[in-house]
Parts: sequence; C-alpha cells; structure tokens
Amino acid sequence: MTAKTKKILLNETELPTSWYNIVADMKTKPLPMLNPATKQAVSEEDLYPLFARELARQELNQNDTWIEIPDAVREQYKIYRPTPLVRAYGLEKALDTPAHIYFKNESVSPVGSHKLNSALPQAYYCKQDGATNITTETGAGQWGTALSFAAKVFGLELAVYMVKISYEQKPYRRSLMQTWGAQVIASPSMSTKAGRKILTAQPNYQGSLGTAISEAIELAMQTPNCKYALGSVLNHVSLHQTVIGLEAEKQMELAGEYPDVVIGCFGGGSNFSGICFPFLRHSLREGRKTRYIAAEPASCPKLTHGVFEYDFGDESGYTPLLPMFTLGHNFAPSNIHAGGLRYHGAGSIVSQLLRDGLIEAVDIKQLESFEAGVLFARSEGIVPAPESAHAIAAAINEALKAKEEGKRKTILFNLSGHGLIDMSAYDQYLSGNMINYSLEKEDIEKNIEKIEKQLR
Ligand SMILES: Cc1ncc(COP(=O)(O)O)c(C=O)c1O
Repeated sequence: MTAKTKKILLNETELPTSWYNIVADMKTKPLPMLNPATKQAVSEEDLYPLFARELARQELNQNDTWIEIPDAVREQYKIYRPTPLVRAYGLEKALDTPAHIYFKNESVSPVGSHKLNSALPQAYYCKQDGATNITTETGAGQWGTALSFAAKVFGLELAVYMVKISYEQKPYRRSLMQTWGAQVIASPSMSTKAGRKILTAQPNYQGSLGTAISEAIELAMQTPNCKYALGSVLNHVSLHQTVIGLEAEKQMELAGEYPDVVIGCFGGGSNFSGICFPFLRHSLREGRKTRYIAAEPASCPKLTHGVFEYDFGDESGYTPLLPMFTLGHNFAPSNIHAGGLRYHGAGSIVSQLLRDGLIEAVDIKQLESFEAGVLFARSEGIVPAPESAHAIAAAINEALKAKEEGKRKTILFNLSGHGLIDMSAYDQYLSGNMINYSLEKEDIEKNIEKIEKQLR
C-alpha cells in the first residue's frame, strides 16, 4: 500500500510576501463608498479620522495588484503560518464520495481562527500611525479575540464591544480577550449614545454586529489617539485574508490538483474572500472555470435573499454608505450560534462579484450546519466553529452531488476556525434542543422597504 499524503505543509520561507488586491483585476470595479450627507464618493482623507492612513489607502486602492506585507507582520504570521492544507480522507470515506475534499486549516492560529490574518496588520498600521488605543466590535468573539492578541503584540489598548447574546453564550471568549488585556463590554451598552438609544427602545435587545459597530465607532471618535478596527466587510480586511488562498494555491499545486469548487462560510465576506480571491484571479485573467460558493446562514441570508443597495455598515448609520447585498442595516438576526455570521450585509467586492455572476451563494439551516460539524469532527477529529460548519455543510452537499453524478470533483473549503469555545452550542445540538430559525420572505421585504425609504 502506498502512503497517502494527508497534510500539505509549506515552510516559513514560502509565506507570501504580498497580499493580492483583486480589485485591480476586476473588469467591473465595485461602486464607491458614499458620504451619506453629500452622496459623494468617500476619499482616503475622509477615512483618516477612523482608520489608520495605510488602511484607508488599501481600502480605496484599485490599481496595485500586489500589496507588500510589512516585515513586522510577516514575523508575527510565522507564529502560525503557513497553515496546513489537509486532504479530508476521513470525510470522503464517511460520505463515500468520489470527490477529493481539501480544507485549509485556519483553526491552528493561536486565537483559533482566520481573524488574526487581518488583526495583526490592522494593529500594526494603527500603531505606525501614532494611535495608543483602538476599538472594535465582535460577534461570537473570534475577531475580538484576534485583535486582543494583536493589540498586545503592537502595544495598543483595546476596547471591544461584544454582541450581548455571545457575551452570555460564550464567556470563555470574553476571558480570552481579557487574558490578552482587552476591555470587553456587552453590546448594546449604556456607555454610548447608540447603545442607550436601542436599549431604551428595546430593553431586552440581545445585540447585533451592526449595533456593536456603532458603539465601537462612537467610542473611537470620542477618544484621543484612538482608531477603529473592523473584522470583516471592508476591502482591506479581505485583502489581508488573501494569505489563506495564496498559500492554498501553492499547496494544491504540491498536491497535484486544482479545485473545481472553492467554498467559504460567509459573515461579512473576509474568509470567503481570503480563500477564493487568489483562485479567482485565474478565472478573471485566464477564464479558468472554477465555482466559488459562499455559505451563509438561512436566518441571515443577505446574498441569497437580500437586495443590492447602498446601505450603512452599522445600525446607527455612522459608517459611509456601502454598495452591498443587504437585509437592511437594522435587520435583527435570530440568535443562531454562528454569531460571526449574524451580519446584515456583504462587503462591496464580493457583492459586485455576485452581481457579475462570478461567485455563487447558498443558505444553510442551523441544524444542517451542526450535523455537518459533528460529521466533520467524527471523521477528521477537529470540532469546527459553528461558522465554519456552514462551509463544511456546503462542501458535503457538493461531494454528495459528485457521488450522485458519478463525477470526480476537487473541492476546497476554508476551515475558518475551531469550535472548542463553542461547546455549549454543540451541547444544545447533541441534546436535541437546537432549532432552525425560519425567516419569512415578507419580513425580509418589509425590512428592506423600510431601509430604502430611510435612505431616499
Ligand atoms: C470562525 C469564523 N468564521 C467565519 C466568520 C465570518 O466572518 P467573515 O465572513 O468575515 O470571514 C467569523 C466571524 O466572526 C468567524 O469567527
């Protein structure tokens, strides 16, 4: 019997030296962000009060295909990168599929997810810009955890607004952030105007990423030498995450395969962008036929059931207007355990790619995602984050389709994080107490109508 290669590893010297900026290769560029007051395109300078200058530059950069990764960031990446690419033989066997399934294992980062890929450069550029403090929001706590470590590495004080439902469901994520020295506040809180407004109207509101973003922006605007950092949605975040796909591209080459399908779960779009964009560049430049599938929760389906509109990135309307697939910025998602996917909108690059038919989206119900997560844990040994389980469910569906069609297909998905701090969610699933949240078409339409009226 010949030995089968399970893990495809790169060494430190093969760590990418640049991030890939897909916008430079897009024929139809994403529409610009707009200033909500003037409806004019936002300039780099408009973003300076909130973001580090280099991040503002990266956000609006449509020309440079490659953006160099600073040495200080590459040094920190070396703690956990390059991450392994793994052939999921166990899962293939469990599904009895002719498909070859690979996953990029971002769960090996010290914080447990892909979020550190952008947290490190964001903290680095904020420090370079003279900031002493930063603020952010976090859903399930993965982004806040990553930024807590990155802030410590680069000597910044961090305040994190954590969506209240996750603050209560995932106390160990809060402990992790505090261990790395961050201050963590449950959102909505009484510490900001945005929080007070929503709590006065709905005292039991369990929070949303949109509200937590408003609170973090408000604090950043009021604090001297303070910048704001966002863990998804924006172009510069997707840019940083391309280290995932750039490494995966080399590793697939070493495996002697090229993916027919690339899959990522979808919150605001950063890990999906990270795994897909480097492969998409071959579709854009050489017309290579690959499918790219974003897996979102059925209870927060902006890509599959939302509209393409200019909308705010946060609940209170503090951000510029972004051209995005959205459910409306005050959409209150159900309390699913995949807290990182409870976001009303999608980044403007992925939104444009979806409009142009270059990527696809599927929606996955909560129970289906946990069923997939448990099968993955039992066949590959890793307990996936509830968010990542959406990508696994989509990969399983593709592998089963390949079986039905009797086709040999190569599937690559991103394992964006592990679920070891999400075990209360698994407990609920295993004890049969988990439910699917349904979302009526009329409720989505009503919410979107409300937003459209507000923005006109
Ligand atoms: C493990 C994990 N995967 C995926 C996501 C979704 O975010 P994004 O779409 O930016 O990758 C999150 C967000 O918190 C997360 O924690």
